[in-house]
Amino acid sequence: MSQAKRVNVDSLQRMKRKGKRITMLTAYDYFMAQVLDEAGVDLLLVGDTVGMAVGGHATTIPVRLEHIVYHADMVSRGASRAMVIGDLPFLTYQVTVEAAIENAGKLMQDGHVHGVKVEGGRAMVPFVKRVLRAGIPVMGHLGLTPQSVHRFGGWKVQGKDERSATQVYEAAQALQDAGCFAIVLEAIPSELAQRVTESIEIPTIGIGAGPHCDGQVLVTPDMLGITGFEAKYIKQYAQLRDTIRDAVEHYVDDVKEGRYPTEEHGY
Ligand code: KIV
Repeated sequence: MSQAKRVNVDSLQRMKRKGKRITMLTAYDYFMAQVLDEAGVDLLLVGDTVGMAVGGHATTIPVRLEHIVYHADMVSRGASRAMVIGDLPFLTYQVTVEAAIENAGKLMQDGHVHGVKVEGGRAMVPFVKRVLRAGIPVMGHLGLTPQSVHRFGGWKVQGKDERSATQVYEAAQALQDAGCFAIVLEAIPSELAQRVTESIEIPTIGIGAGPHCDGQVLVTPDMLGITGFEAKYIKQYAQLRDTIRDAVEHYVDDVKEGRYPTEEHGY
């Protein structure tokens, strides 16, 4: 059986040029990564949303590099076609460029990712340049960057006023010039996402940013209806929380009532 060629920075660039839309989903473990890969998702993000969508935390801030490395190792083994991106967690890249290179390198060597993602605008440029110089592809992330949720005063749409829209727009140019291969645009008005997407040559991947980005990302447990988290931008493609509860209730009943296990399940 021939294996599909792995998605990479060049094929993503070609997809943008040809107007082919890019799909990205978060993944945190081996078997889910296998399923998402089989289904044809182009990019798997080992996001620091693991802290919320798996760990039950209120924000992504408690997530550490070791957590992302642990999950990235599983995801990379599960994905044969998708490009795997690892999130650099809070304060693992913003303090010194040396730490940024060391931590991004660790994520590649121990988590086996093909690229890393960092949140933030112009201030990230020196970090992006140095990490790239070490041979590590970098994805940017602008708009409602979750690691800054407390600075924003909550989960608020960004880029709504002129000043903040200009900041996002100019930061996208700066990240492109610094060498990012793509940028996630999170929770910004759709018209701003369109302007950014049309003004840069690298792909934009939207989440809560309307229909005009080059691609789309969602948090997988949200889109599969596992977390129960609902927001305007999320389309739920399944209600797995209900499916799982029904299955487990069935199991509990079977065991309590003596219907399972039966002789045929014994050795
Ligand atoms: O951590 C994450 O899952 C993300 C996506 C929401 C883009 O950054």
